[in-house]
Amino acid sequence: MRTVIAVSNQKGGVAKTTTCVSLGAAMVERGFEVLAVDLDPQANLSLALGLPVNGLRRGAADVLLGNLSAVSVSRATAIAGLDVLPANSAMHLVERFLTVRQDYEYTLRSALAAAHTFEIVLVDCPPSTGAIPYTALTAANMLLIPTQCEYFSTHGLGEVLDLVRRVRARTNPQLSYRIVVTMFDRGNRVHRGILDQLRGAFGAAVLDTTIDIDPKLRESQVFGQPITSYAPSSRAAQQYRALADELSVYVRREPSAQPA
Ligand SMILES: Nc1ncnc2c1ncn2[C@@H]1O[C@H](COP(=O)(O)OP(=O)(O)OP(=O)(O)O)[C@@H](O)[C@H]1O
Ligand SMILES: [Mg+2]
Repeated sequence: MRTVIAVSNQKGGVAKTTTCVSLGAAMVERGFEVLAVDLDPQANLSLALGLPVNGLRRGAADVLLGNLSAVSVSRATAIAGLDVLPANSAMHLVERFLTVRQDYEYTLRSALAAAHTFEIVLVDCPPSTGAIPYTALTAANMLLIPTQCEYFSTHGLGEVLDLVRRVRARTNPQLSYRIVVTMFDRGNRVHRGILDQLRGAFGAAVLDTTIDIDPKLRESQVFGQPITSYAPSSRAAQQYRALADELSVYVRREPSAQPA
């Protein structure tokens, strides 16, 4: 029983990576074995987990272009129970060369097939709707879409949902999606208004938990630690734990939705 959650949105800077790291660490606190997969050439997830990215011989590029299994390339982090499949520098080549491979969309799904020890796999995607997110969504049970309550961010959701439709039609009919609001400012009337609009438009797909603005998240990344370790009682740590709890219900209730 393993659940793969792809964290993706073509809009940049909406807290995809922050959500992967923080949610992953919160899931570990709840007793899950978690693998965080960094598919972004920017390697922010690997950096945020304290990995020395430049010296890595092997990483996600070898999985996507070289057929290595996810387990053979992943490594432990300072958080027991949280492993990472890091992005190495060759990830810069992946978007260009991946599509040359036959059935490239299934590469990540196959690479994860033997990763039995992990109950949850979180996949951090680059800000695009290209080949890399496509492979992530093909491997996923659920797409988690972080979005800010800003006009341009919500406007961009149409593009992500268009990608969902294409993936469902071609490679992964069972893909579900949820939207999580990030960097929320409760005191901001526009933010509250846009959240209401999102709930009106997308209903239960918008998760109850919202992640508020919390400067501690930026600090934690500088120190290469998840927020749950860096500032365990901060608002962000508590909200990411609430997000983990909301999603764990899904993880436990719908294991059969996992693609073969
Ligand atoms: N809740 C929050 N409160 C304050 N700052 C935040 C919060 N969430 C994320 N940030 C900050 O916002 C910036 C963007 O976050 P992050 O890198 O996670 O976004 P991203 O969607 O992964 O970006 P990219 O598209 O470049 O991959 C980072 O500096 C991060 O520390
Ligand atoms: Mg990122």
